[in-house]
Amino acid sequence: MKGVILAGGLGSRLFPLTKITNKHLLPIFDRPMIYYPIEALVKAGITDIMVVTGGKKSGDFLSLLGNGSDFGLKHLNYTYQKGEGGIAEALGLCEHWAAGEPVCVILGDNIIEKNIAKGVADFKAQGGGAKIMLKEVHDPERFGVAELRGEKVVSIEEKPKHPKSNKAVIGIYMYDSRVFDIIKTLEPSDRGELEITDVNNWYLRDGNMTAEVLDGWWTDAGTFDSLIKAANLVADGGANND
Ligand code: G1P
Repeated sequence: MKGVILAGGLGSRLFPLTKITNKHLLPIFDRPMIYYPIEALVKAGITDIMVVTGGKKSGDFLSLLGNGSDFGLKHLNYTYQKGEGGIAEALGLCEHWAAGEPVCVILGDNIIEKNIAKGVADFKAQGGGAKIMLKEVHDPERFGVAELRGEKVVSIEEKPKHPKSNKAVIGIYMYDSRVFDIIKTLEPSDRGELEITDVNNWYLRDGNMTAEVLDGWWTDAGTFDSLIKAANLVADGGANND
């Protein structure tokens, strides 16, 4: 399984912090934000990794990360997303590189306390389809939100005004190689982006998607409040723990 880190976009919710640099290069306690998703993949045994960057300072990712030696890697792959076409569009840029293998996708501003080793192993055993991860939150209207019937996810809504549960779909997704053909069928949403939630709903309708509740805390870091929350969580107990 290959790993994809999505670190494009303009980080407009963090303006002016993102006026002269990329969101994913901002610090979270003692490391740049982008370090955390790389560590999360490496800890789960995924070492063939693509970093999708964007914005004006995309070259700084190369200066910072090089070939990934800080993470014990021999090589890192990079590609560039122009503008803010959305998460699904960014993933679509990885089709040629993925070369028919399944992918574990992690959003560059998602940080976790523990690890996703179990989720990755479960997805491999599943033999195709997709897997999403859920986490209970107090502000579900900020995220993709799962509608549940018992334990089963029946639909996902992107940033609903009236959320049907408090379970956010976090930014860690696993897909089989069909994901790239699915992305080609998507239409931009009201915010002008190709939504990962539309990809997930496709897999739900197909009937081969599993959902797992993530163990340990999770946070994004794409707003002022979540940026400081992430820093405090990491300072208190570290991230990507065993
Ligand atoms: C994105 C996804 C959303 C998901 C969230 C997790 O939101 O669209 O479904 O819950 O990441 O961080 P965005 O950060 O683009 O608003």
